[in-house]
Amino acid sequence: MQNILVTGGAGFIGSNFIKYILKNYNYKIFNYDKLTYAGNLENLTDIEDNANYKFIKGDICELENVKKVLTDNNIDTIINFAAESHVDRSILGSREFIVTNVLGTQTLLDIFKDLKLEKYLQVSTDEVYGSLPEDRKELKFTEQNPIKTNSPYSASKASADLLCNSYFHTHKLPILITRCSNNYGPYQFPEKLIPLMIAKALDGEKLPVYGDGKNVRDWLYVDDHCSAICEVLHKGKIGEVYNIGGNNEWYNIDIVKLILKTLKKSEEQILYVKDRPGHDRRYAIDSSKIQNELGWKPAYDFEHGIESTIKWYIENESWWRKVMSGEYLKYYEKNYASKVK
Ligand code: NAD
Ligand code: DAU
Repeated sequence: MQNILVTGGAGFIGSNFIKYILKNYNYKIFNYDKLTYAGNLENLTDIEDNANYKFIKGDICELENVKKVLTDNNIDTIINFAAESHVDRSILGSREFIVTNVLGTQTLLDIFKDLKLEKYLQVSTDEVYGSLPEDRKELKFTEQNPIKTNSPYSASKASADLLCNSYFHTHKLPILITRCSNNYGPYQFPEKLIPLMIAKALDGEKLPVYGDGKNVRDWLYVDDHCSAICEVLHKGKIGEVYNIGGNNEWYNIDIVKLILKTLKKSEEQILYVKDRPGHDRRYAIDSSKIQNELGWKPAYDFEHGIESTIKWYIENESWWRKVMSGEYLKYYEKNYASKVK
Protein backbone atom coordinates (compact mmCIF):
# COMPACT_ATOMS: atom_id res chain seq x y z
CA MET A 1 0.00 0.00 0.00
CA GLN A 2 1.54 3.29 -1.11
CA ASN A 3 -0.90 5.56 -2.88
CA ILE A 4 -4.32 6.08 -1.31
CA LEU A 5 -7.40 7.71 -2.80
CA VAL A 6 -9.42 9.37 -0.03
CA THR A 7 -12.84 10.32 -1.37
CA GLY A 8 -14.73 13.08 0.42
CA GLY A 9 -11.49 14.32 1.96
CA ALA A 10 -12.64 17.94 2.07
CA GLY A 11 -15.45 17.17 4.51
CA PHE A 12 -15.35 16.97 8.30
CA ILE A 13 -13.99 13.46 8.94
CA GLY A 14 -12.15 13.12 5.62
CA SER A 15 -10.10 16.27 6.19
CA ASN A 16 -9.24 15.26 9.76
CA PHE A 17 -8.34 11.81 8.45
CA ILE A 18 -5.97 13.16 5.78
CA LYS A 19 -4.11 15.21 8.38
CA TYR A 20 -4.00 12.22 10.73
CA ILE A 21 -2.64 9.77 8.16
CA LEU A 22 -0.07 12.24 6.76
CA LYS A 23 1.19 12.85 10.29
CA ASN A 24 1.41 9.21 11.29
CA TYR A 25 2.27 7.30 8.08
CA ASN A 26 4.22 7.73 4.90
CA TYR A 27 1.62 7.32 2.16
CA LYS A 28 0.80 9.52 -0.80
CA ILE A 29 -2.74 10.78 -0.32
CA PHE A 30 -4.98 11.82 -3.19
CA ASN A 31 -8.05 13.70 -1.99
CA TYR A 32 -10.90 13.26 -4.50
CA ASP A 33 -13.87 15.46 -3.59
CA LYS A 34 -16.78 17.03 -5.45
CA LEU A 35 -16.80 20.02 -3.08
CA THR A 36 -20.51 20.01 -2.28
CA TYR A 37 -21.80 22.47 0.34
CA ALA A 38 -20.05 20.24 2.94
CA GLY A 39 -16.67 20.11 1.20
CA ASN A 40 -14.28 22.90 2.09
CA LEU A 41 -10.64 23.18 1.05
CA GLU A 42 -10.06 25.61 3.92
CA ASN A 43 -10.16 22.51 6.15
CA LEU A 44 -6.86 21.49 4.60
CA THR A 45 -4.86 24.70 4.23
CA ASP A 46 -2.24 23.58 6.76
CA ILE A 47 -1.25 20.56 4.65
CA GLU A 48 -1.98 21.75 1.10
CA ASP A 49 1.75 22.10 0.33
CA ASN A 50 2.68 18.69 1.77
CA ALA A 51 4.56 16.74 -0.95
CA ASN A 52 2.57 13.62 -0.07
CA TYR A 53 -0.79 15.32 -0.65
CA LYS A 54 -2.74 16.21 -3.78
CA PHE A 55 -6.31 17.48 -4.21
CA ILE A 56 -8.36 16.49 -7.25
CA LYS A 57 -11.86 17.87 -7.72
CA GLY A 58 -14.35 15.27 -8.90
CA ASP A 59 -17.49 13.25 -8.36
CA ILE A 60 -17.35 9.59 -7.29
CA CYS A 61 -20.23 8.91 -9.68
CA GLU A 62 -18.09 9.83 -12.71
CA LEU A 63 -16.64 6.48 -13.68
CA GLU A 64 -14.16 7.57 -16.37
CA ASN A 65 -12.87 10.43 -14.28
CA VAL A 66 -12.27 8.26 -11.21
CA LYS A 67 -10.61 5.58 -13.34
CA LYS A 68 -8.24 8.11 -14.87
CA VAL A 69 -7.31 9.52 -11.45
CA LEU A 70 -6.58 6.03 -10.15
CA THR A 71 -4.46 4.93 -13.12
CA ASP A 72 -2.63 8.26 -13.64
CA ASN A 73 -1.55 8.24 -9.98
CA ASN A 74 -0.86 4.52 -9.50
CA ILE A 75 -3.39 4.35 -6.70
CA ASP A 76 -3.67 0.98 -4.94
CA THR A 77 -6.13 1.72 -2.12
CA ILE A 78 -9.49 3.50 -1.85
CA ILE A 79 -11.01 4.84 1.37
CA ASN A 80 -14.53 6.07 0.69
CA PHE A 81 -15.68 8.89 2.96
CA ALA A 82 -17.63 10.70 0.21
CA ALA A 83 -21.29 10.92 1.09
CA GLU A 84 -24.30 13.06 1.70
CA SER A 85 -24.14 12.82 5.48
CA HIS A 86 -26.93 14.81 7.14
CA VAL A 87 -30.12 13.01 8.21
CA ASP A 88 -32.31 16.14 8.16
CA ARG A 89 -31.33 16.91 4.58
CA SER A 90 -32.19 13.33 3.59
CA ILE A 91 -35.68 13.89 5.03
CA LEU A 92 -36.10 17.08 2.98
CA GLY A 93 -34.99 15.24 -0.18
CA SER A 94 -33.31 11.87 -0.61
CA ARG A 95 -32.25 11.80 -4.25
CA GLU A 96 -28.71 13.12 -3.77
CA PHE A 97 -28.26 10.54 -1.01
CA ILE A 98 -29.12 7.68 -3.34
CA VAL A 99 -26.97 9.09 -6.14
CA THR A 100 -23.79 9.67 -4.13
CA ASN A 101 -24.09 7.13 -1.33
CA VAL A 102 -25.40 4.22 -3.39
CA LEU A 103 -24.50 4.83 -7.05
CA GLY A 104 -21.23 6.54 -6.11
CA THR A 105 -20.18 3.53 -4.03
CA GLN A 106 -21.24 1.15 -6.80
CA THR A 107 -19.13 3.16 -9.27
CA LEU A 108 -16.07 2.98 -7.01
CA LEU A 109 -16.56 -0.76 -6.48
CA ASP A 110 -16.79 -1.46 -10.21
CA ILE A 111 -13.58 0.47 -10.88
CA PHE A 112 -11.89 -1.20 -7.91
CA LYS A 113 -12.84 -4.58 -9.43
CA ASP A 114 -11.73 -3.70 -12.98
CA LEU A 115 -8.38 -2.29 -11.91
CA LYS A 116 -7.76 -5.11 -9.38
CA LEU A 117 -6.55 -2.74 -6.69
CA GLU A 118 -5.15 -3.75 -3.31
CA LYS A 119 -7.73 -2.63 -0.72
CA TYR A 120 -11.07 -0.81 -0.41
CA LEU A 121 -12.41 0.57 2.85
CA GLN A 122 -16.00 1.80 3.13
CA VAL A 123 -16.58 4.37 5.87
CA SER A 124 -20.06 3.55 7.14
CA THR A 125 -22.16 4.40 10.17
CA ASP A 126 -23.88 2.89 13.20
CA GLU A 127 -27.14 4.33 11.85
CA VAL A 128 -27.50 1.27 9.60
CA TYR A 129 -28.52 -0.69 12.72
CA GLY A 130 -31.54 1.50 13.43
CA SER A 131 -32.50 2.45 16.97
CA LEU A 132 -31.97 0.90 20.42
CA PRO A 133 -34.54 0.94 23.23
CA GLU A 134 -33.89 3.68 25.76
CA ASP A 135 -34.68 1.48 28.76
CA ARG A 136 -32.37 -1.44 27.88
CA LYS A 137 -28.99 0.14 28.58
CA GLU A 138 -27.30 -3.28 28.37
CA LEU A 139 -28.10 -3.44 24.63
CA LYS A 140 -25.55 -2.03 22.19
CA PHE A 141 -25.03 -2.47 18.45
CA THR A 142 -22.69 -5.34 17.61
CA GLU A 143 -21.58 -6.29 14.10
CA GLN A 144 -24.20 -9.09 14.27
CA ASN A 145 -27.13 -6.70 14.63
CA PRO A 146 -29.44 -6.81 11.61
CA ILE A 147 -29.53 -3.82 9.29
CA LYS A 148 -32.71 -1.91 10.14
CA THR A 149 -32.67 1.56 8.70
CA ASN A 150 -35.09 4.35 9.53
CA SER A 151 -33.98 7.43 7.57
CA PRO A 152 -33.27 7.86 3.87
CA TYR A 153 -29.67 8.67 4.89
CA SER A 154 -29.20 5.43 6.81
CA ALA A 155 -30.99 3.45 4.07
CA SER A 156 -28.55 4.82 1.50
CA LYS A 157 -25.53 4.03 3.70
CA ALA A 158 -26.84 0.51 4.38
CA SER A 159 -27.37 -0.05 0.66
CA ALA A 160 -23.74 0.89 0.08
CA ASP A 161 -22.63 -1.55 2.81
CA LEU A 162 -24.66 -4.35 1.25
CA LEU A 163 -23.09 -3.62 -2.13
CA CYS A 164 -19.62 -3.77 -0.56
CA ASN A 165 -20.46 -7.07 1.06
CA SER A 166 -21.79 -8.45 -2.23
CA TYR A 167 -18.61 -7.46 -4.12
CA PHE A 168 -16.56 -9.18 -1.42
CA HIS A 169 -18.57 -12.40 -1.65
CA THR A 170 -19.22 -12.52 -5.37
CA HIS A 171 -16.04 -11.03 -6.79
CA LYS A 172 -13.75 -11.99 -3.88
CA LEU A 173 -12.50 -8.43 -3.54
CA PRO A 174 -10.43 -7.15 -0.58
CA ILE A 175 -13.08 -4.96 1.02
CA LEU A 176 -13.51 -3.73 4.61
CA ILE A 177 -16.35 -1.81 6.26
CA THR A 178 -16.24 0.39 9.36
CA ARG A 179 -19.35 1.57 11.23
CA CYS A 180 -18.74 4.44 13.58
CA SER A 181 -20.91 6.32 16.07
CA ASN A 182 -21.39 10.12 16.15
CA ASN A 183 -18.18 12.09 15.67
CA TYR A 184 -17.35 15.54 17.01
CA GLY A 185 -14.32 17.78 16.65
CA PRO A 186 -12.93 20.65 14.56
CA TYR A 187 -14.22 21.38 11.04
CA GLN A 188 -17.61 19.72 11.55
CA PHE A 189 -20.22 21.46 9.43
CA PRO A 190 -22.54 23.47 11.72
CA GLU A 191 -25.68 21.67 10.59
CA LYS A 192 -24.80 18.83 13.02
CA LEU A 193 -25.78 19.02 16.70
CA ILE A 194 -22.54 20.02 18.46
CA PRO A 195 -21.19 22.72 16.11
CA LEU A 196 -24.69 24.09 15.50
CA MET A 197 -25.31 24.48 19.22
CA ILE A 198 -21.90 26.08 19.80
CA ALA A 199 -22.50 28.61 17.01
CA LYS A 200 -26.04 29.45 18.21
CA ALA A 201 -24.88 29.76 21.82
CA LEU A 202 -22.03 32.10 20.85
CA ASP A 203 -24.45 34.25 18.84
CA GLY A 204 -26.97 34.44 21.69
CA GLU A 205 -29.61 32.75 19.54
CA LYS A 206 -32.06 29.95 20.37
CA LEU A 207 -30.70 26.41 20.40
CA PRO A 208 -33.27 24.15 18.63
CA VAL A 209 -33.59 20.84 20.50
CA TYR A 210 -35.69 18.20 18.73
CA GLY A 211 -38.56 16.53 20.62
CA ASP A 212 -37.92 16.02 24.34
CA GLY A 213 -34.12 16.19 23.97
CA LYS A 214 -33.84 12.66 25.38
CA ASN A 215 -32.48 10.96 22.27
CA VAL A 216 -29.14 9.35 22.99
CA ARG A 217 -25.97 9.40 20.86
CA ASP A 218 -22.58 7.78 21.49
CA TRP A 219 -19.95 10.48 20.87
CA LEU A 220 -16.40 9.87 19.64
CA TYR A 221 -13.66 12.43 19.02
CA VAL A 222 -12.89 12.53 15.29
CA ASP A 223 -9.19 11.62 15.68
CA ASP A 224 -10.22 8.41 17.42
CA HIS A 225 -12.34 7.53 14.39
CA CYS A 226 -9.29 8.25 12.19
CA SER A 227 -6.99 6.02 14.25
CA ALA A 228 -9.58 3.22 14.16
CA ILE A 229 -9.84 3.43 10.36
CA CYS A 230 -6.05 3.12 10.12
CA GLU A 231 -6.08 0.02 12.35
CA VAL A 232 -8.78 -1.59 10.20
CA LEU A 233 -6.93 -0.64 7.02
CA HIS A 234 -3.70 -2.21 8.24
CA LYS A 235 -4.89 -5.15 10.32
CA GLY A 236 -8.57 -5.72 9.58
CA LYS A 237 -9.71 -9.09 8.27
CA ILE A 238 -10.86 -8.81 4.66
CA GLY A 239 -14.62 -8.97 4.22
CA GLU A 240 -15.33 -8.01 7.81
CA VAL A 241 -17.27 -5.17 9.44
CA TYR A 242 -15.76 -3.28 12.40
CA ASN A 243 -17.86 -1.16 14.76
CA ILE A 244 -16.17 1.95 16.18
CA GLY A 245 -17.52 3.81 19.20
CA GLY A 246 -16.62 5.79 22.26
CA ASN A 247 -18.69 4.03 24.93
CA ASN A 248 -19.87 7.55 25.64
CA GLU A 249 -23.65 7.90 25.60
CA TRP A 250 -25.27 11.28 26.15
CA TYR A 251 -28.79 12.64 26.04
CA ASN A 252 -28.89 15.47 23.47
CA ILE A 253 -30.22 17.89 26.07
CA ASP A 254 -27.27 17.21 28.37
CA ILE A 255 -24.82 17.95 25.56
CA VAL A 256 -26.65 21.20 24.84
CA LYS A 257 -26.58 22.20 28.52
CA LEU A 258 -22.89 21.31 28.76
CA ILE A 259 -22.11 23.58 25.79
CA LEU A 260 -24.09 26.45 27.34
CA LYS A 261 -22.39 25.97 30.71
CA THR A 262 -18.92 25.89 29.15
CA LEU A 263 -19.68 29.10 27.27
CA LYS A 264 -21.24 30.65 30.39
CA LYS A 265 -24.57 31.12 28.59
CA SER A 266 -28.10 30.80 29.93
CA GLU A 267 -30.24 27.67 29.52
CA GLU A 268 -33.01 30.08 28.54
CA GLN A 269 -31.48 29.95 25.09
CA ILE A 270 -32.80 26.37 24.70
CA LEU A 271 -35.82 26.06 22.42
CA TYR A 272 -37.64 22.72 22.21
CA VAL A 273 -38.87 22.29 18.64
CA LYS A 274 -40.88 19.64 16.78
CA ASP A 275 -39.15 16.31 16.57
CA ARG A 276 -37.21 15.02 13.56
CA PRO A 277 -39.57 12.64 11.70
CA GLY A 278 -38.57 9.01 12.31
CA HIS A 279 -36.03 10.15 14.90
CA ASP A 280 -33.88 7.22 16.13
CA ARG A 281 -34.09 7.16 19.92
CA ARG A 282 -30.76 5.71 20.95
CA TYR A 283 -27.45 4.69 19.40
CA ALA A 284 -24.75 2.85 21.33
CA ILE A 285 -21.83 0.95 19.86
CA ASP A 286 -20.24 -2.22 21.17
CA SER A 287 -16.67 -1.84 19.91
CA SER A 288 -15.24 -4.92 21.60
CA LYS A 289 -14.39 -6.54 18.24
CA ILE A 290 -12.00 -3.79 17.09
CA GLN A 291 -10.64 -3.44 20.63
CA ASN A 292 -9.99 -7.16 21.14
CA GLU A 293 -8.95 -8.16 17.62
CA LEU A 294 -7.04 -5.09 16.47
CA GLY A 295 -6.02 -3.53 19.79
CA TRP A 296 -7.66 -0.16 19.06
CA LYS A 297 -9.03 2.05 21.80
CA PRO A 298 -10.03 5.72 21.93
CA ALA A 299 -7.32 8.11 23.09
CA TYR A 300 -9.52 11.11 23.94
CA ASP A 301 -11.89 11.44 26.87
CA PHE A 302 -15.07 13.40 26.28
CA GLU A 303 -14.39 16.06 28.88
CA HIS A 304 -11.22 17.22 27.14
CA GLY A 305 -12.44 16.50 23.61
CA ILE A 306 -15.56 18.66 23.95
CA GLU A 307 -13.64 21.42 25.69
CA SER A 308 -11.03 21.62 22.94
CA THR A 309 -13.77 21.42 20.28
CA ILE A 310 -15.64 24.37 21.82
CA LYS A 311 -12.34 26.27 22.01
CA TRP A 312 -11.68 25.50 18.33
CA TYR A 313 -15.05 26.99 17.32
CA ILE A 314 -14.38 30.09 19.42
CA GLU A 315 -10.98 30.55 17.78
CA ASN A 316 -12.19 29.78 14.26
CA GLU A 317 -15.28 31.95 14.07
CA SER A 318 -14.52 33.11 10.52
CA TRP A 319 -14.48 29.46 9.34
CA TRP A 320 -18.01 28.69 10.57
CA ARG A 321 -19.44 32.11 9.75
CA LYS A 322 -18.39 31.65 6.14
CA VAL A 323 -19.93 28.17 5.79
CA MET A 324 -23.10 29.28 7.57
CA SER A 325 -23.86 31.88 4.92
CA GLY A 326 -25.24 31.38 1.40
CA GLU A 327 -26.84 28.00 0.68
CA TYR A 328 -26.83 27.11 4.37
CA LEU A 329 -29.26 29.87 5.29
CA LYS A 330 -31.84 28.50 2.82
CA TYR A 331 -31.44 25.01 4.25
CA TYR A 332 -31.75 26.30 7.82
CA GLU A 333 -34.98 28.12 7.03
CA LYS A 334 -36.41 25.08 5.22
CA ASN A 335 -35.52 22.61 7.98
CA TYR A 336 -36.38 24.65 11.07
CA ALA A 337 -39.25 26.97 10.01
CA SER A 338 -41.82 24.18 10.25
CA LYS A 339 -40.33 22.83 13.48
CA VAL A 340 -40.85 25.84 15.71
CA LYS A 341 -43.95 25.00 17.77
P1 NAD B 1 -19.36 15.62 5.41
O1 NAD B 1 -20.73 15.87 4.92
O2 NAD B 1 -18.73 16.59 6.32
O3 NAD B 1 -18.39 15.44 4.15
C1 NAD B 1 -18.73 14.73 3.00
C2 NAD B 1 -17.70 15.04 1.93
O4 NAD B 1 -18.02 14.25 0.78
C3 NAD B 1 -17.70 16.50 1.48
O5 NAD B 1 -16.38 16.97 1.38
C4 NAD B 1 -18.36 16.45 0.11
O6 NAD B 1 -17.92 17.49 -0.76
C5 NAD B 1 -17.93 15.08 -0.37
N1 NAD B 1 -18.84 14.53 -1.39
C6 NAD B 1 -20.20 14.48 -1.35
N2 NAD B 1 -20.68 13.93 -2.48
C7 NAD B 1 -19.60 13.59 -3.25
C8 NAD B 1 -19.44 12.98 -4.52
N3 NAD B 1 -20.50 12.59 -5.24
N4 NAD B 1 -18.20 12.80 -5.00
C9 NAD B 1 -17.11 13.20 -4.29
N5 NAD B 1 -17.20 13.81 -3.09
C10 NAD B 1 -18.43 14.00 -2.58
O7 NAD B 1 -19.40 14.17 6.06
P2 NAD B 1 -18.63 13.60 7.33
O8 NAD B 1 -19.40 13.89 8.54
O9 NAD B 1 -17.21 13.99 7.21
O10 NAD B 1 -18.77 12.03 7.04
C11 NAD B 1 -17.82 11.35 6.21
C12 NAD B 1 -18.25 9.90 6.08
O11 NAD B 1 -18.30 9.30 7.37
C13 NAD B 1 -19.62 9.71 5.48
O12 NAD B 1 -19.57 8.58 4.63
C14 NAD B 1 -20.52 9.45 6.67
O13 NAD B 1 -21.62 8.64 6.30
C15 NAD B 1 -19.57 8.71 7.59
N6 NAD B 1 -19.84 8.84 9.04
C16 NAD B 1 -20.02 10.07 9.61
C17 NAD B 1 -20.21 10.16 10.98
C18 NAD B 1 -20.40 11.51 11.66
O14 NAD B 1 -20.66 11.54 12.87
N7 NAD B 1 -20.25 12.62 10.97
C19 NAD B 1 -20.21 9.00 11.77
C20 NAD B 1 -20.03 7.76 11.15
C21 NAD B 1 -19.84 7.69 9.79
O1 DAU C 1 -24.29 7.96 14.24
C1 DAU C 1 -23.49 8.37 13.17
C2 DAU C 1 -24.19 9.47 12.41
O2 DAU C 1 -24.17 10.61 13.25
C3 DAU C 1 -23.55 9.76 11.07
O3 DAU C 1 -23.68 8.64 10.23
C4 DAU C 1 -24.21 10.98 10.40
O4 DAU C 1 -23.51 11.32 9.23
C5 DAU C 1 -24.14 12.14 11.38
O5 DAU C 1 -24.81 13.25 10.83
C6 DAU C 1 -24.76 11.77 12.72
O6 DAU C 1 -26.19 11.60 12.63
P1 DAU C 1 -27.21 12.17 13.75
O7 DAU C 1 -28.51 12.37 13.13
O8 DAU C 1 -27.11 11.36 14.99
O9 DAU C 1 -26.44 13.59 14.04
P2 DAU C 1 -27.00 15.09 14.21
O10 DAU C 1 -25.82 15.89 14.65
O11 DAU C 1 -27.76 15.54 13.03
O12 DAU C 1 -28.00 14.94 15.44
C7 DAU C 1 -27.57 14.44 16.69
C8 DAU C 1 -28.78 14.39 17.60
O13 DAU C 1 -29.16 15.74 17.91
C9 DAU C 1 -29.99 13.73 16.99
O14 DAU C 1 -30.69 13.01 18.00
C10 DAU C 1 -30.85 14.89 16.51
C11 DAU C 1 -30.53 15.99 17.52
N1 DAU C 1 -30.60 17.38 16.98
C12 DAU C 1 -29.88 17.66 15.86
C13 DAU C 1 -29.93 18.93 15.31
C14 DAU C 1 -29.18 19.25 14.04
C15 DAU C 1 -31.33 18.36 17.63
O15 DAU C 1 -31.95 18.09 18.69
N2 DAU C 1 -31.37 19.60 17.09
C16 DAU C 1 -30.72 19.94 15.95
O16 DAU C 1 -30.83 21.10 15.49
